[in-house]
Amino acid sequence: MQLVFATNNENKVKEMRSLLGNHFEIITLQEAGIDIDIPEPHDTLEENAREKSSVIYKMTGQDCFSEDTGLEVMALGGAPGVLSARYAGEQKSAADNIVKVLQELKDKTDRSARFRTVISLIIDGKELQFEGVCPGRILEQPQGSEGFGYDPIFVPDGADRSFAEMGLAEKNTYSHRARAFEGLITYLKEQGEQH
Ligand code: IMP
Repeated sequence: MQLVFATNNENKVKEMRSLLGNHFEIITLQEAGIDIDIPEPHDTLEENAREKSSVIYKMTGQDCFSEDTGLEVMALGGAPGVLSARYAGEQKSAADNIVKVLQELKDKTDRSARFRTVISLIIDGKELQFEGVCPGRILEQPQGSEGFGYDPIFVPDGADRSFAEMGLAEKNTYSHRARAFEGLITYLKEQGEQH
């Protein structure tokens, strides 16, 4: 089964592919010959994920999925949340975003946070959503060089190292994206068994 993954983020594609069995093949936007920056105009992860999958479904007519992820820091009232990619500005710099989060948490004792991923799947023209949450905490300083985005400052519950200090396989045992993807895979397998 082929699914177009509506993202231009190579790190996300790498993570998703590492979770797949033989039954599913992920086609990237580049492989589908699509070169657009998909808009994320809404106030919720759910709406942004739906926007991305709908745009790609309209362009390709193929089954597809998208995902939107946010880092939600409790002491910041859930920020950066849906603004995670451009928290420190439209340049969408991971380094700048990390500096801003650490600065805002400087005097806070509660460093709890969570990543939340929403996947929007469009299959046979119908939309379904799957959520994955990874609770954890924000470090005082960045640690590690693997991964991307906020990985160097996030330690998932149950671990003693940041996501950026883990290989992909270990990150996937905790990650929000892996958890949301599990829901997607379970659904697709059930569909496959019914046909
Ligand atoms: P988006 O889902 O591409 O809009 O991502 C929102 C922001 O969260 C971006 O700044 C990403 O770099 C960041 N982000 C998404 N997933 C992860 C992750 O697994 N680890 C760290 N940062 C992430």
